[in-house]
This record gives sequence, structure tokens and C-alpha cells, in this order.
Amino acid sequence: MDYKGLAQKYGTPLYIYDFNHIKERYNELKNAFSGRKSLVCYAVKANSNLSILRHLANLGAGFDCVSIGEVKRALMAGAKPYQVIFSGVGKSDDEIKTALNSNILMLNLESEAELDRVCAIAKELNKTARISIRINPDVDAKTHPYISTGLNENKFGVDVMSAKKMYLKAKNSAHIEPVGVHFHIGSQITEISSIIEAANIVAKVVSELKALEIDIKFFDVGGGVGIVYDDEQNVSLYDYAQGILAALKGLDVTIVCEPGRFIVGNAGVLLSSVLYEKFNKNRRFVVVDAAMNDLIRPSLYDAHHGVEFLGKNEQISPCDIVGPICESGDFLAKNLNLPKCQSGDLILIKSAGAYGFSMSSNYNTRPRAAEIGIEDGKDRLIRRREKFEDLIALETEFLN
Ligand code: LLP
Repeated sequence: MDYKGLAQKYGTPLYIYDFNHIKERYNELKNAFSGRKSLVCYAVKANSNLSILRHLANLGAGFDCVSIGEVKRALMAGAKPYQVIFSGVGKSDDEIKTALNSNILMLNLESEAELDRVCAIAKELNKTARISIRINPDVDAKTHPYISTGLNENKFGVDVMSAKKMYLKAKNSAHIEPVGVHFHIGSQITEISSIIEAANIVAKVVSELKALEIDIKFFDVGGGVGIVYDDEQNVSLYDYAQGILAALKGLDVTIVCEPGRFIVGNAGVLLSSVLYEKFNKNRRFVVVDAAMNDLIRPSLYDAHHGVEFLGKNEQISPCDIVGPICESGDFLAKNLNLPKCQSGDLILIKSAGAYGFSMSSNYNTRPRAAEIGIEDGKDRLIRRREKFEDLIALETEFLN
């Protein structure tokens, strides 16, 4: 890849996504469930760029959304409404209304209060709301606590007993049609056995519901399949799919999964330029033009992203890679060995396709990076770099 040419053409910091890789990952997952009815609903939150969504919609993907904004993005990108799921612990009335009017596949509910709200709104609109309920199976996903969601101590979903109660209530409501069941126990999971354990718990609930004539058609196993950032084991999709299929033995359901990171994580890199090197006593810092506002994962989760230096490889010594933001937490990598850097040298921060741009901000009034896609060897701009004028555009007292 001609990173130097791309940096000259588009500037840095620059997010670069490999559309061919995204397609391969989608197909890998779709094929893992071949022979069974399945729907891969890409988790929009991982990277919500419309061009990426359209690319996935063209491949036949469905979409998992956590705000009406994400639902709108998915539909705008060409998603079929009956392949769109709306999840999340706190949906507003307006969001529920718009979702019902968009005739999406289902709303995924996370509390009894929410069920009551959806029921009331569906009645008002004279519609029937297709729903699933997110079950919190109390299974440890063995991942970073901030991205672990399947324990009772987490805010997500409802326990098995409450879920059964909610399904009965839903069944007896004229405006609710319970069609699915859902769980999602966490993200960046590399021990697939925890997802399989959750699938078994939830499959048992589905059998009980079917016995009560509650016809669950969609079995949604959430996302969470981990990727390799550093020295993690590659997750075997075969084991993942076989484990889920085994849990579903005898149940006639469509398997839904909601991968985010697995599809886009390794497809993206963040290209950044070195501004300066500096030493504070003996500690060496390489200051680059990307910062925590561009990629917050290292600061927020102590996440590791591989770094590739694209300059001359001489005089290697340890350093931290830091950005220009006024916080000590503004680092992209710590304690890594890099050659002596010159201003303008390029650095590649790897595996930045998921939760990179989508979690970026304008902190310190920094315009967000440009995003480009590479497909079949050709590059194209999919989001232009922000300008100062974009950042102040909503500050109404200063608009004329
Ligand atoms: N489905 C639901 C209901 C979710 O909450 C999530 C992620 C996914 C699917 C997709 O999970 P994935 O396949 O990407 O693991 N910002 C964090 C990750 C937060 C994940 C939140 N939920 C990070 O940068 O690691």
C-alpha cells in the first residue's frame, strides 16, 4: 500500500478501510452458519460510515442499531427494513414511534417498563410491534469490564425469570408480537465457550416459550466475537457456529448474529504523521498528529493497537506515542520500540476499523479525521476531513 501517496493525497490523520477485507469477513461469518436460516446483522456502532453500511447492505447484511440515528443510517444505506433490529436500554418515545413506522424486523427490549411503553405507543399508532427480549444470562464473558454486558451487575437485559414474565405479558397484548430472543454478553470475546454457555441457557428458555405457544422465530446471539490485536488466539468461527447450532438442536429458529468488531476491526488502520520527538528526562515521547479524540480505545480501555513505523528503521529505542491533546491519558501506544523519528514520518495504527472513528470526538476543537475506502486497489474518500467551520456550525449565537 502506498501510504505516503495516500497521506499526500488526503492528509493525516487518516482512517483507511479495506472494503475487500470487510466483504471476506462478512462472507466468513455468513458461511459459518450455512445450511441454517441465518441473518448477519452488522452492529452499526462499530463503524457507522454510510459507505461501509452500503457495502454491507449490498452483500445482503442486516443491521443492529442502538439509536434511531443508526436505524436511519442503515435504511439510508439501502438496508431492507425487515433486516434491521433496534436494540438498547433506553429508547425514547420518538425513537420507538419512528422505529414502528419504519416497519423494521424487531425492537429488542431490555426492561418491563420499556415493554409497557412500546405497547402503549403501538396501540396509539394502531400497529403491532414485533419484539425480542434481551436476556441477561449471568455469564462471564471474560473480557474488559467496560465491555462486559452479560452479568447481573451490568445494566443490560433482564434475568431469565423476568424475561418469561415479559413474554407472557407480550403474548397477551394485542399490539405486541414476540418474535425473537436476544442476548449479548460482551465484546472482544476470545473464549467462545462463554457465548455457547449463554446460547444454551437462552435456548432452554426458547423451548419453554414454544411450549407456551410463544413462537420465537429469531434467536439472536449478539456480537462479541473477538479479533487479533496483539497475541490473542484467532477465534474459530467453526467452533463458534457449531456450538450455537448444537445449543439450538431441535429448535426451528433463524439464527441472528450482530458482529461489529469482527467485520470491520482488522479492516481499518489509522495513518498519522510524526510532529516531533521529545524527551522528559529519560522518557522519550513521539508526538503525532492523531490523538485520543481520533482513537480513544488506548486511553479508555488500555487497549493495545499494533504500530508500524513507515520511516527509516535505525536507532531503535523505547518510547510512548502521544497526541497533541492536553491530557496525560492522550496516548496511542506505550513502551514500544521505535526508530528515531523525523517530523513527517508516517505511523500506522493497526486494527482501528472498529470503535475508532465511531467513538471519535471534537475534543480540543480538533476536526475529525478523513476516512477513505480501498476496494480492488482503488482509493476513494468516504468522509471528508472536518473543517473548523463544521465544528462551530451549530453555535447559533454566532450564525448570521
Ligand atoms: N450487539 C449489541 C447489543 C452490542 O451491545 C454490541 C456492542 C454488539 C452487538 C457488537 O459487538 P462486537 O461484535 O463489536 O463485539 N467501544 C468498545 C466496544 C463496545 C461494544 C458495545 N456493544 C471497544 O472499543 O472495545
